[in-house]
Amino acid sequence: MTRIVDKDLMGDEEYVERTLRPQYFKEYIGQDKVKDQLRIFIEAAKLRDEALDHVLLFGPPGLGKTTMAFVIANELGVNLKQTSGPAIEKAGDLVAILNDLEPGDVLFIDEIHRMPMAVEEVLYSAMEDFYIDIMIGAGETSRSVHLDLPPFTLIGATTRAGMLSNPLRARFGINGHMEYYELEDLTEIVERTADIFEAEITHEAAIELACRSRGTPRIANRLLKRVRDYAQIMGDGLIDDSIADRALTMLDVDKEGLDYVDQKILRTMIEMYSGGPVGLGTLSVNIAEERETVEDMYEPYLIQKGFLMRTRTGRVATAKAYEHLGYAQPDHE
Ligand code: ADE
Repeated sequence: MTRIVDKDLMGDEEYVERTLRPQYFKEYIGQDKVKDQLRIFIEAAKLRDEALDHVLLFGPPGLGKTTMAFVIANELGVNLKQTSGPAIEKAGDLVAILNDLEPGDVLFIDEIHRMPMAVEEVLYSAMEDFYIDIMIGAGETSRSVHLDLPPFTLIGATTRAGMLSNPLRARFGINGHMEYYELEDLTEIVERTADIFEAEITHEAAIELACRSRGTPRIANRLLKRVRDYAQIMGDGLIDDSIADRALTMLDVDKEGLDYVDQKILRTMIEMYSGGPVGLGTLSVNIAEERETVEDMYEPYLIQKGFLMRTRTGRVATAKAYEHLGYAQPDHE
């Protein structure tokens, strides 16, 4: 298959992300619930020759929200214009983007929760009734100009739906909740990526990598690259389970898929705060990470795997965390 990307013009990471990205639902592995719903809504919109209703995709980073947005546009057979919440600084920036849309196009706004309020307010009428009112001029001579827009589909992506304002959230007709990937799906993704890389990997090694990638394709694909390097230098190039295990251990990715930062979070809670409860702000300062990073990237997986609990008084390390990291269980009074 020819790939219409020029490797030399992009950074390694970007090249990998772009070429690995599935183009249609049939290539997109996992997230069946989101895909099954979208397939129906897309088919119906196409039959009626309408723009698809606005879609909000939410879930932790690295689960393929951007990829899903591109797939939706491809399935609809329309163009996708991409921007992000922080990139739209002024209402005028958004007006320029909206003014450029063709009927049926997809506008993808990543990190939509980080849009300034003045920009968000422009979006309300654009989403609901496909028009915007813009103010032209200043003072005495200022006037409002009504601008009709073509019907379009807004796809917003956010790490947590709770961060969106109620009026914005209410304007999305379709919600796609992206979940951590099942082991079988992540294994298949690792094998697909290895195939694109032309790297030889045993099924057992693909499972080992999938097990240790926190349910996240972006992490699985990144680790696969490093394991491939390891296999090439420390072995004969074949990635088997022994090579995968040694490479991942060298990379500080443990058997449960916890990386250095995950372990540091749990160790800090156990060693400095007797397992908690400890506030998220305090914890973040202690491990020198941004609060948002801990909340969006690390905590959800630790909670899902049962290593950490969120309580009213703060975060608590579970008995499973003590056991996994080799600490004696705390005494309970
Ligand atoms: N590469 C990264 N994520 C993927 C997915 N969900 N399906 C197929 N290939 C992928």
